[in-house]
Amino acid sequence: MKRRTFFKFGLTTTALALLKSNGIFGKPIPKEEPKADLIKRSNIVISTWSHGIKANDEAWKVLSDGGKSIDAVEAGVRITEADITNRSVGIGGRPDREGHVTLDACIMDENSKCGAVACLEGIKHPVSVARAVMDKTPHVMLVGEGARDFAIEQGFEKCKTPIKEVKKDWKEWKKENKELLRKPRINHENHDTIGMLALDEFGNISGSCTTSGWAYKMHGRVGDSPIIGAGLFIDNEIGGACATGMGEAIIRIAGSHTVVELMRQGKSPQDACRLAVERIISKHDDLTGLQCGFIALDVYGRVGSYSVYSGFNYAFQKEDGKNVMVDSEYNRSW
Ligand code: GLY
Repeated sequence: MKRRTFFKFGLTTTALALLKSNGIFGKPIPKEEPKADLIKRSNIVISTWSHGIKANDEAWKVLSDGGKSIDAVEAGVRITEADITNRSVGIGGRPDREGHVTLDACIMDENSKCGAVACLEGIKHPVSVARAVMDKTPHVMLVGEGARDFAIEQGFEKCKTPIKEVKKDWKEWKKENKELLRKPRINHENHDTIGMLALDEFGNISGSCTTSGWAYKMHGRVGDSPIIGAGLFIDNEIGGACATGMGEAIIRIAGSHTVVELMRQGKSPQDACRLAVERIISKHDDLTGLQCGFIALDVYGRVGSYSVYSGFNYAFQKEDGKNVMVDSEYNRSW
């Protein structure tokens, strides 16, 4: 290397290192290694909204039998997916504006293995199809017809959607909302995704997320729920997070990944959820009807949650086996 080139290269490298160490490229990230003696090795499960109570009960059976968190989060949300009275998750879910019930789900384990399906029609358990994508294919996400063909090939149970009552509601909605057939309106009532996080006795965290999405959405619309990093993210060295609410806003900030990265920087699950919600708020001039919420669980067994508006809650089951609803902190009232 010529002296001048060496000098230039050397200076540039030194300058870069100096800039980095002074945080010119953003605040330096403190190296927060999980403290091994504080890492929890006990069962915890949390999931969004009140449908989480029954889902937690099922997940708890797996955990208290000495099972793994990945099996618990799959078993847990299957309960919600199979509940035909639920209008925002699974086979009882509301359709898009064309009358198709399109389901989205994902799952992620402690080894950062993950699987997802989006826009899946007529299959009872999208979360289990997502698990099969993770376990049996080299891919992370399958969508639409491809996801359905895969599910059928794998022997997953088919079902007819929308169910009768939901179809009737949709027909009435169409009559009354001609203008919304062109542009769907935000409706926070219809975003009650179930997202679940579980910690098992081996100290491993996994998560799942499943929804029928925004009621009367445009055909082909996919929200945050099946998107790893948006609806769900797990890093077993740090913790996990999942989201509920208006998927478009959550995707814009890679919501669940943001929460986990904030925890990596030393924030508590509670502060990480709050900061992610504040980031969503800062990116939107109009927050009308824009409800989003996060729940988070870290390797120390700490939990947190935060939402844009009041009214969000989550089901929390821990060592003593008690399964209770917890009201989330929030930024503003409706
Ligand atoms: N969070 C669910 C959705 O927006 O589809």
